Amino acid sequence: MPDPVRKGNINDYAESLLVHFRRIESLKKEALSYPSVDLNGRQLAELELLLNRTLYPLAGYLDREDYEAVLDSMRLADGNVWPIPICLDVKEEFARSLGKGQQVALNDPEGFMLAVLTVNDIWQPDKKREALKVFGTEDPASHPGVRCLFEEIHPWYLGGTLEGLHLPIHYDFNELRLTPSEAHRRFSQNGWRNVIGFHTDEYLHMAQKEMILTAAREAGANVLLHPMVGSIDPGNVDHYTHVRCYQEIVKKFPKNMAQLGLLPRVIRKAGPREALLQAIMKKNFGCSHFMVAEDQCDPLAGQNGGDRFYPVHAAQELVREHEEDIGIQMVPLRRMAYVEEKAQFMPLAEITPEMTVKDISREELRRRLENDLDIPAWFSYPEIIAELRYAYPPRSVQGFTVFITGLSGAGKSTVAKVLLVKFLEMRARPVTLLDGDVVRKNLSSELSFTSEHRNLNITRIGFVASEITKNGGIAICAPIAPYEEARRANRELISKYGGYIEVYMSTPQEICEQRDRKGLYAKARAGKIKGFTGVSDPYIPPSNPEITIDTTEMTPAEAAQEVLLYLEEQGYIR
Ligand code: PPS
Repeated sequence: MPDPVRKGNINDYAESLLVHFRRIESLKKEALSYPSVDLNGRQLAELELLLNRTLYPLAGYLDREDYEAVLDSMRLADGNVWPIPICLDVKEEFARSLGKGQQVALNDPEGFMLAVLTVNDIWQPDKKREALKVFGTEDPASHPGVRCLFEEIHPWYLGGTLEGLHLPIHYDFNELRLTPSEAHRRFSQNGWRNVIGFHTDEYLHMAQKEMILTAAREAGANVLLHPMVGSIDPGNVDHYTHVRCYQEIVKKFPKNMAQLGLLPRVIRKAGPREALLQAIMKKNFGCSHFMVAEDQCDPLAGQNGGDRFYPVHAAQELVREHEEDIGIQMVPLRRMAYVEEKAQFMPLAEITPEMTVKDISREELRRRLENDLDIPAWFSYPEIIAELRYAYPPRSVQGFTVFITGLSGAGKSTVAKVLLVKFLEMRARPVTLLDGDVVRKNLSSELSFTSEHRNLNITRIGFVASEITKNGGIAICAPIAPYEEARRANRELISKYGGYIEVYMSTPQEICEQRDRKGLYAKARAGKIKGFTGVSDPYIPPSNPEITIDTTEMTPAEAAQEVLLYLEEQGYIR
């Protein structure tokens, strides 16, 4: 197996890309004149993986030659296996202000300097080509990784080498954030010759524990339980629950059998290519074996239905093909299920038709938690169920957002006010009304009605609603919210913290215009208001609202009742 180190420089072998502490002060002074970038959460996690050498042999971000080689051949220009580009994405204006050889300070989101990048290459990538090569499609609608590439990743890339000052700062679970060298040292100290890595970002229950333990025994290996965790949002409850659950499950392995280590979270869902990158990362942590699922990193894995985006087993095959090159053995992950007659877990392949198999899907578990229902003892450990019950209280005590969208005059504000009164009458949770007009007078008072400002307005409303929902309250939002993209972002954000109920006021435009309570349609038709929704600016109806209400022949109380019935049926109110 070839040594992956690239240029023969002694620093290429360093156990981290951090400079000696005595160099930090001078580097900080020098950096005062450097242009700087405040990294976002994704970039921060990637920087941590580079600095602590999880991404060895990379000593920084790929230059253009390596980038092209990675796309075309899954190798760096020097021949080392590397399946996914790791470049620093920046805005065009910033990229154009830089030159080769220039130094750039890389900061965390608070502006604290973590590293200095010496820029080797600056270019605008062909994102369609990258999407096709890495993800196998250029359609953002069919793949979350492609959507992130097109919508979130900046349009220009920088390549170059890194000098690190500090690893990103974490205040939580520091003792579990093992670097590759620390992990490797622990394995040696414990006399662990073979270690099987298990990469995950999911909650683990008894079936997964049995699966890992069986694979480890077959490989004669100890276990590195290696979940990707993290969030730069300090209030993200899910993150803490995840880690506490991993801390519990690791105790369930035989003594001295398993080591838990947390990895910064970067998830692309790039299927086989990402599984290959994970294999390289595991090798860098000192693992001899790596467990790979038949649908590892598939964007559709774990969802309802058996559809997969990548061919089943493709991830296992790709890792197996590169076993020698990387120096790690691929172990196919064999899922297990609980067999009632045997009162134990068995690999799916060994289960015969007459056996009674029991399983609880992710959705079913969520349903049971939300409705405060029983979770059987064979499924998980009491400590883990207790953690989950704490983090996911039943819907009747969760916060939620009712997001009412529709044309001006469709009845949004009126129905929102009735709902406000009803919720106050119930007195079960604190309630906040974020009406479009009212928000425009305070939170968004400086905004116009350009599409950019409308999106900003909806994002602000979504942020406030997410905070209210997170803290167990009810947020009623009633803006026009004419565009799908901003509504989808709000749904994604708020659903993480509680209920999200989108109510589409579908009252036809003719009716809204006839009502024209504020005389705005008349003014818009007369050209006195520019870019008026429905007249000279589009309204894109929601594609999948929870509730659709046409108030043409309905009183506000009747319309509000529809929402209340839905909330009652879904368990949010009693
Ligand atoms: S948006 O698109 O969601 O940001 O709009 P929103 O914040 O809900 O504000 C809509 C209210 O602003 C008034 N108004 C306009 N609406 C649409 N287009 C234009 N150009 C415009 N100019 C002013 C209007 O009163 C809307 O209130 P409602 O309650 O919907 O009638």
